[in-house]
Amino acid sequence: MADETNATETGTETAAAPPKAAKAAKAGASEMTRREFNWLALAWSFFAASAAAQLTAMGRFMFPNVLTEPPSTFKVGLPTDFAIGAVDERFKEKFRVWVVRNEEGMYAISAICTHLGCTPNWLSAENKFKCPCHGSGFYMSGINFEGPAPRPLERVKIELADDGQVLIDKGRLFKQEAGQWNDPESFLNLS
Ligand code: FES
Repeated sequence: MADETNATETGTETAAAPPKAAKAAKAGASEMTRREFNWLALAWSFFAASAAAQLTAMGRFMFPNVLTEPPSTFKVGLPTDFAIGAVDERFKEKFRVWVVRNEEGMYAISAICTHLGCTPNWLSAENKFKCPCHGSGFYMSGINFEGPAPRPLERVKIELADDGQVLIDKGRLFKQEAGQWNDPESFLNLS
């Protein structure tokens, strides 16, 4: 009798509680669902990143950099706006050009190192341009005198516009080693 009661009680417990196999299957299914969700999320991330990259590329194609880059030709003001014997750095950041005024006139120097293209700094206390990348040094004229730069900085076209302002044109470059600094467009004579 006592055995029957136990058997019945055991049978009742077994019927009420889910079998271990069913529990394991449920846990497995839930794990699969979580994994599937993670994969799906990952796939969507890749898809979204790829779509964003394609949209960016399309945007660049439709609105090329030419709209945002500074113009190659620009006015910098009147000759009297420039101090004699000084390097004017106002146009370096935007146009990558220095404007120099001396007793005879003016010239503009491209702020691109002739070694590997870094942007040198004007060190007024030392009266020279110094490239931060590998140490090339250039005189105020643009001539190289120290470091690995193989040649002087290049000058850019400079002239007077009709309104009397100094007009710079970066589209025309002059190399000293090619004798191009003798070109009248490489120097604005004011004497
Ligand atoms: S890039 Fe200027 S010294 Fe090398």
